[in-house]
Amino acid sequence: MPQAKMKFAIDDGSTNVKISWIENGLVRSITSPNSFRKEWKSAALLSDKKVFNYQVGSTKYTYDATSDKALSTTHVAFQYDDLNLLSVHHALLQTGIQPCPVSILVTLPITEYYNADDCQKNEENIARKKANLMREISLNKGELFQIVDVQVLPESLPAVLTTLMDSGVNPYTKSLVIDCGGTTLDMGVIVGEFDDVSAVYGNADIGVSMVTDATRKALAAADSDASYLVANELIKRRQDRDFVGDVINDLSKVDWVLGKIDEKIAELGSAVAYEAKTFARNPNRVYLVGGGASLIEPAIRDAYPSLGDKIVLVPEPQEALSREICCYHAADPQTADAV
Ligand SMILES: Nc1ncnc2c1ncn2[C@@H]1O[C@H](COP(=O)(O)OP(=O)(O)OP(=O)(O)O)[C@@H](O)[C@H]1O
Ligand SMILES: [Mg+2]
Repeated sequence: MPQAKMKFAIDDGSTNVKISWIENGLVRSITSPNSFRKEWKSAALLSDKKVFNYQVGSTKYTYDATSDKALSTTHVAFQYDDLNLLSVHHALLQTGIQPCPVSILVTLPITEYYNADDCQKNEENIARKKANLMREISLNKGELFQIVDVQVLPESLPAVLTTLMDSGVNPYTKSLVIDCGGTTLDMGVIVGEFDDVSAVYGNADIGVSMVTDATRKALAAADSDASYLVANELIKRRQDRDFVGDVINDLSKVDWVLGKIDEKIAELGSAVAYEAKTFARNPNRVYLVGGGASLIEPAIRDAYPSLGDKIVLVPEPQEALSREICCYHAADPQTADAV
């Protein structure tokens, strides 16, 4: 087996893969959306457009950012299937680094990583995820990275490592971390500066995809069928009237579609706030991470009115986890160790 030349920290979420690595002493991060469909694409009309046609076993897949036939990845089984393997390899290719043997750190949702009953590592799930990522895959007319080593870490909690270290917490401070991703809501309570993780919680029914699904339905009703990717972009840029006008064909329904999106964002916020209050009634601090962090921020501020600026939206919340894992574990391929 060849020796890994580089190490990548990969938060392979169900909707987006966030990948971080060290280049010239600096941490670099990119986000690679998951949007694959079956069968291959024909060669691009424009020569500068790259086509990514993959094969796993006998099944052919292609990366297709705008297809409304994109395969759904917003379910927990995604962590162990073909699409996860594709999404990790595809993200590696987006780094612009020449394919080489690599060692990777990937993540599993808290509820998959730990057994629900005793908070111990679920070794079976961890082994399953590793085995899945070591499988054979090929890229038509191209070279792929060779994954020679896989380490699995829990999602969410490591995202606030440096934020917590720099924030002068005392050993009794209870920090609630809320990770609102595409498909899952993960939460954990950290005591002090990571002295202890006192509780973890995961809910695979609450995530930004609630808003994405509603957006796609509303778009379809406005004669504008759209992929997950386009729907998500619309949620992000809902205040940008030009973009909104480009996506929604039936202009008479623009306000109606935007209203549906706002309604669903509020619903997501209150669902997260309710679960958070039930899970941790009186934390000392709250940290918001994950792509949905900014969507739920107002609801969380309402839910914990006395915390004020102790509620922190972590900078670049979507990439926070891969960035932090990278800083702590990927700097040196020889010495890095799993949490
Ligand atoms: N600034 C933003 N405003 C609104 N939504 C955003 C923003 N940034 C990202 N998102 C949305 O967040 C979601 C992805 O978040 P994230 O990358 O944390 O999820 P994930 O890790 O793929 O999912 P999970 O953790 O549930 O497996 C997508 O639906 C994306 O469109
Ligand atoms: Mg995630």
